[in-house]
Amino acid sequence: MVARHDWLADHRRHVRSSVPAVKTTYLCQQCGAASPKWAGQCAACGAWNTLVETIAAPRPARGLSAARVIAGGAAVAAIGSLTSAEASRLPSGIGEVDRVLGGGFVPGSIILIGGDPGIGKSTLLLQLAARVAAGGRRALYVTAEESASQVRGRAERIGGVVDGLDLATTTDLDTAVAAIESVSPALAVVDSVQTLTSPDLTGPAGSVGQVREVAARLAEVAKAGQTCIALVGHVTKEGTVAGPRTLEHLVDAVIYLEGERLGSTRLLRAAKNRFGSTDEVGVLEMRGDGLAEVDDASRFFLESDETPTAGSAVTIALEGTRPLAVEIQALSAAASYGSPRRATTGIDVNRVLMLIAVLARHAGLNLSGHDVYVNVAGGLRIDEPAADLAIATALASSLRERPVRRGTVLAGEVALSGRLRSAVRADRRLLEATRLGFDRLVTGQSRGARSAQREQGLVIASDIREALEATLER
Ligand code: TYD
Ligand code: MG
Repeated sequence: MVARHDWLADHRRHVRSSVPAVKTTYLCQQCGAASPKWAGQCAACGAWNTLVETIAAPRPARGLSAARVIAGGAAVAAIGSLTSAEASRLPSGIGEVDRVLGGGFVPGSIILIGGDPGIGKSTLLLQLAARVAAGGRRALYVTAEESASQVRGRAERIGGVVDGLDLATTTDLDTAVAAIESVSPALAVVDSVQTLTSPDLTGPAGSVGQVREVAARLAEVAKAGQTCIALVGHVTKEGTVAGPRTLEHLVDAVIYLEGERLGSTRLLRAAKNRFGSTDEVGVLEMRGDGLAEVDDASRFFLESDETPTAGSAVTIALEGTRPLAVEIQALSAAASYGSPRRATTGIDVNRVLMLIAVLARHAGLNLSGHDVYVNVAGGLRIDEPAADLAIATALASSLRERPVRRGTVLAGEVALSGRLRSAVRADRRLLEATRLGFDRLVTGQSRGARSAQREQGLVIASDIREALEATLER
C-alpha cells in the first residue's frame, strides 16, 4: 500500500501556498466549449441546456513550471542528443495489447482506454498492471470506482496478487496525483476519469469541466516523469468518452475496448495513437480468469467449417497488417408490409443499401420486396471496401438460396457500375486463405498489375455478375 508515505501532507502544504483567484466560466457538457456567461443554447455546438457553471481557481504551480521550461531553455535540445520513445517502451505483457499500442507502453505518456460500462476495462487494466509488476517494474492502480477489497477480489480471480502492484483508493484528483508522484511507477492505472474530481472546480464528477481537468492534470504528471498513465473512461450515450472531443486531444493515445456485452470476444482498437498505427486491432476473449489472447485470431471470426449454407460468405479482411478471415451472414425474407427493413451489425448500413442497388441493377437480383439483415460474425466491425464482394455475395446467396462453393473466399471492391476492383494486397489475403484451408480467392482486376492473374487460387472476375457465377453453387 502507498499509504505509508506522507505525500498527502506534502501536497496539502503545496496547495495551500497558492492564493487562487476565482473565475467562473460556463462549459457546454456536450462539446466542451467555454462561455463567459450562461445561455440556453451553446453557441459552439447548438445544443440546448448544456451549459454548466464551472468555477476554476487557476493553479499558480502549473504556470510556474511552464515558465521555468521557457526561462531555463530546457525545451531546446539537439535532436541527435535525444533518445526516442521507441527505445524505452515497456511491453504490456499481452501481445494483442502491444500490437495496438504499437509495441508497448511509452514512459511519460498518457493513454485513454474507453469502452462501454461492464465491457472489461478494469479487468484488462488490472491484468496489465499485474503483468508489469510481475515483470519487475512497479505498477499502481488508482481506483475511484470500486473499493480496495473489490479490486483485490478481482485480482485474485485473474492471478493479479503480485509484489510490486500497489493499490490506492480515492476519488480526489490531488490525492491520486500525489500517489502517482510518490510511487513513481512504470505504469499507473487511473479508474476512472469520470469518478475523480478536482476540488478546484465546482462541477460534479463526470461533468465536462471535471473530466477535462482530470485528464489535463494527469497528462501533465505523465509528461513530467517516466510513468505511463492509463486512464479509464466510460463511453457516453453519444458513443465517445465524456462528450465528443473533450479528451482526445489531451492524451497521446485513445484505445477502445469493444465487443458485445454478452459475447466473449473483445476487440481493442486505437482511435488515436501518437506512437503507432491506428489500423491494428487486438483480439481478446473474456474468460473466467480475465481477458486472454485467442489462439488463432484469424480463424476466430469464422463461425464454423461445416457444410456451406446459403447466406454466408467469407472474406479475408486486412485489419492493419493482420489478415482476418471473417464470415458475413445475410438473410433476406419477403417483407410483409410497408417499406422493407434493412438492418446491419458490424457494417455500415449505407454500404449495404448501395450493394442492394448494385445487385438489382447489374446482377438482376431484386431485393426491393425483401427485409434484409446483414451481420459480421464474432462482433467484428468492418469498414474496408474490400468486404463489398463478400457482402454482395452473401445477399445474393440468401436470395437465391444457393450457398457459396466450398473452399471459396471473397475480397474485392464493388463499384456502382457493378465492376469489381481487386482488394489491396490480394496476395497477402490469398496466402492467409490458403493457410486456413480455402483454395480460391475471388477478387477483381487490380489496376496495373497483371501478374496476379497467374497466381494459383486467385479467381479474377470483371464484374459482380461474373463473380457470383464463379462463387455460388448451381
Ligand atoms: P469490468 O472490468 O468491471 O468492466 P468495466 O471496467 O469496463 O466496467 O468487467 C466486468 C465484466 O467482466 C463483468 O460482467 C464480469 C466479467 N468478468 C469476466 O467474465 N471474467 C473475469 O475474470 C472478470 C474479472 C470479469
Ligand atoms: Mg470498471
